[in-house]
Amino acid sequence: MKPELGVCYYPEHWDETLWAKDAARMVETGITWVRIAEFSWSRLEPVAGQFNFDWLDKAIGILAGHGLRIVMCTPTATPPRWMIERYPDVLAVDADGQPRKFGSRRHYCFSHLGFRSESVRIAQILGERYGRDPRVHAWQIDNEYGCHDTVISYSEPARIAFQGWCAQRYGDIETLNEKWGNVFWSMEYNDFDQIDLPNLTVTQPNPAHELAFRRFSSDQVVAYNRAQAQVLRAATDTPLIHNYMGRILEFDHFEIGADLDIASWDSYPIGFLSDRLEADDAHKARYLQQGDPDMQAFHHDLYRTVGKGRWWVMEQQPGPVNWAPYNPAPLTGMVRLWTWEAIAHGAEVVSYFRWRQAPFAQEQMHAGLLTPQDNPAPGMAEAAQVAHEIAQIGDITQAKATVALVFDYASDWTWTTLPQGADFNYFRLVFEAYKALRRAGHTVDILPVTATSFDGYDLVLAPGLAQVPQALKTTKSTTLLGPRTGLVTEELGIDTQCDQPLFSESLPPAHKRPVQDLGHVVHWQETWENDSTLHTDSGAPVLITRDGQNHLTGWPDADLWDAIIARHTNTAPSGDLRIRQTKDHTFVINYTNETQQYETHDIGPCDLGIFKNNQRVL
Ligand code: GAL
Repeated sequence: MKPELGVCYYPEHWDETLWAKDAARMVETGITWVRIAEFSWSRLEPVAGQFNFDWLDKAIGILAGHGLRIVMCTPTATPPRWMIERYPDVLAVDADGQPRKFGSRRHYCFSHLGFRSESVRIAQILGERYGRDPRVHAWQIDNEYGCHDTVISYSEPARIAFQGWCAQRYGDIETLNEKWGNVFWSMEYNDFDQIDLPNLTVTQPNPAHELAFRRFSSDQVVAYNRAQAQVLRAATDTPLIHNYMGRILEFDHFEIGADLDIASWDSYPIGFLSDRLEADDAHKARYLQQGDPDMQAFHHDLYRTVGKGRWWVMEQQPGPVNWAPYNPAPLTGMVRLWTWEAIAHGAEVVSYFRWRQAPFAQEQMHAGLLTPQDNPAPGMAEAAQVAHEIAQIGDITQAKATVALVFDYASDWTWTTLPQGADFNYFRLVFEAYKALRRAGHTVDILPVTATSFDGYDLVLAPGLAQVPQALKTTKSTTLLGPRTGLVTEELGIDTQCDQPLFSESLPPAHKRPVQDLGHVVHWQETWENDSTLHTDSGAPVLITRDGQNHLTGWPDADLWDAIIARHTNTAPSGDLRIRQTKDHTFVINYTNETQQYETHDIGPCDLGIFKNNQRVL
């Protein structure tokens, strides 16, 4: 597969006299794909039922006329103002019961059936118009489900839909009462229509109730996406795509992915480091202008699986963003390095967000490949360089990794509902395991719990997994489960059918329990009566055998993770470098601002080495 570059373009933001020049410059840069129209509903249908496609037809004509391939989008992430007049209750409602207002984006509630049919209607109209247009080569549905905390909505439509969902799942109210344990605190219901949403309760709602509501909320996103996907399927033979975000966990991306052809995601490495990662000050300072060296790779590996092997970066950070608490510029070389890293993990297309920085509205401080004055921004030359280098490197073929990590959205909902300690965060736990695998030099596959087989790996890790699927229990691969794996039922009660620790503790951030000079247990520790070859200094077992599998009883810090991974696998640690093996190439990636040594080669600051048959080809 030969990767390609793309760009996000907003013809409706610019005078149409600029479009042809823009298209010519895109082609000159080496860009072959252009994504358009995802926020353009107010220009496509300024008044309900009155359409204006002239501008879009013209833009498609010009862009495609220059040889660019179009990704058309449904504009449903930004319902126009008239939609709120038509359906005042379309607005999502926050946990305090307040509707979220019009005036930015993603203000709709996934449970609103009127809005669902409006979304299907606009998708259908666009599909009929452009679905068989040979200039349109792919479709993006909506934009970043879940961004800005928009999956969970405590609206009236959600309450009604949730009651129906509960009736469907539990069949009768006695079963629901029994499964949720509603005898506790006299929470029993007589009928499904008495069930409210789990917000504004006096103290903690029943965790089973909350987990059910999280499952329901994810299902609403899946149903909403499916409704649009179905009409587009009938209208086009080109691939259907959604652009996911980083560390958004409130819906099951694997389920959405099953309804689409390609997964894509929006990669903003510097924004993510400052805005959504736990890391100490030294780490944040060291990678301030590069981003965390594993965050992008983790999502590349995750979305490769969500996309069943086919995935893109739909939006790549090209310079400083506007939305994090602080927004430093990427160091020279990082835009190129992020692009190559995505390609190394299998991206078919890396598309920059955005072509030209907008001189107005919310994102006026967000860089593009061009400045608002139309001059090249620093990211532009790096994009052009990658386009040139791609031509030089040629095809890249992905291969199965040697280690796998299980990632499960429902486990996140489980522990978000019942964390038991302020520092128990599922994503953080899994991500720290991933980082340890990457520091050890491994190329990693990320697998869902629904994988039909976990065989063929040297090691499969499953930290924090709420329930262990049968195929993982019986896999021939060596497994490393825990902490907090396989201890609760699907309805979030203690699983009394399996062995349980004597007790579990959550630990405050400064509390660390040393483990034989190898590192520490932090955040979480289960105390089991089983034998162990690894102990905390006070004698508690750290790595036990449970049902024939290795089970970590505590949350390891980075040093302890390194020691545990070294015991179970034998790849050479990669230090500050990150290695990605494909069938034909080895990519060696340096996120640091210092030259690093790989075998006998220097890998420069914010640079990479590409090797083929032991020869350096870049
Ligand atoms: C993404 C979004 C884009 C733009 C970008 C800014 O989350 O999809 O529309 O807002 O962030 O970084």
